[in-house]
Amino acid sequence: MKPRIAVVGSVNMDLVFRTPRMPAVGETLSGHEFRQIPGGKGANQAVAAARQGADVAFIGRVGDDGFGQYSIRCLSEDGIDVSYLSAVPDIATGVAGIIVTDAGDNSIVLAAGANAALSAENVDAAQTAISSAQLLVCQLETPLSTVTRAIQLAKQHNVKVILNPAPVQALADELLQQVDYLVINETEASQLSGIPVTSQESAHLASEKLLQRGVSAVLLTMGEQGLCITEPGKRQYIAAIRVDAVDTTAAGDTFVGAFAVGIGRGLDIHAASVEAQYAAALTVTKLGAQTSIPSRSEVEEFMQSRAAG
Ligand code: RIB
Repeated sequence: MKPRIAVVGSVNMDLVFRTPRMPAVGETLSGHEFRQIPGGKGANQAVAAARQGADVAFIGRVGDDGFGQYSIRCLSEDGIDVSYLSAVPDIATGVAGIIVTDAGDNSIVLAAGANAALSAENVDAAQTAISSAQLLVCQLETPLSTVTRAIQLAKQHNVKVILNPAPVQALADELLQQVDYLVINETEASQLSGIPVTSQESAHLASEKLLQRGVSAVLLTMGEQGLCITEPGKRQYIAAIRVDAVDTTAAGDTFVGAFAVGIGRGLDIHAASVEAQYAAALTVTKLGAQTSIPSRSEVEEFMQSRAAG
């Protein structure tokens, strides 16, 4: 049986500029290339889960425009149920302006557009998709009140919750208490815990602070520094998978989507994280968000090739 996953989240069209370096303030810098690539943290996580073999329902909003229509078509082509992804009149689809340098660093500016119109009522209308899922996946590119409602609904139906609180904002303990897996990076962990995360030790300390606030498990992704998993009374560390980085955009999203599928398949938190790390590492080797998210067979081949040495 395929894992069933509901994703409540954002859809963006990513306007990607490849440049030799980051422009300085006031500078006009010539880039190498421009691409329009479907993105948005929610949509990326849904695509990652679908490409890893899950049945995915996506709950979100786009604008009534070309970017929105194209984004919906791309999600459908990945086999994602888009019945709860509707267009809002007179608002633009969310857009992300992304600069990717030759060194693989990126900077992102967001205009939320229709993502800001995703309401608690839209989530209520998708109750069947949430209640019939094994896991609910949320991020914070849509209103917090909407995410809160989705998490409440999931808990009412014993659906496990994965929250990726990006972009980070203050979160109430009542919300964190309903989160089974909190997937965060160093910046988000530092901000949510008040403990600067600079090392494995500080990562576990910050995570333990979040456990005290009610989360069941924290997965703190630290890029090349690996992954710290913290549960009550248990600390685990998984080293990063080394690859030649082209663009890190959507690596975190791929981790979240693939991790959800691993848990949905019955893997434990460590095994699901290892698979998710391989999937995320492959994402880093290609340009763009949904253009770089690997399929299940690509991840399996990659894992086998690394195991073979
Ligand atoms: O996490 C990567 C995503 O962040 C991009 O696809 C962009 O749309 C922004 O939402």
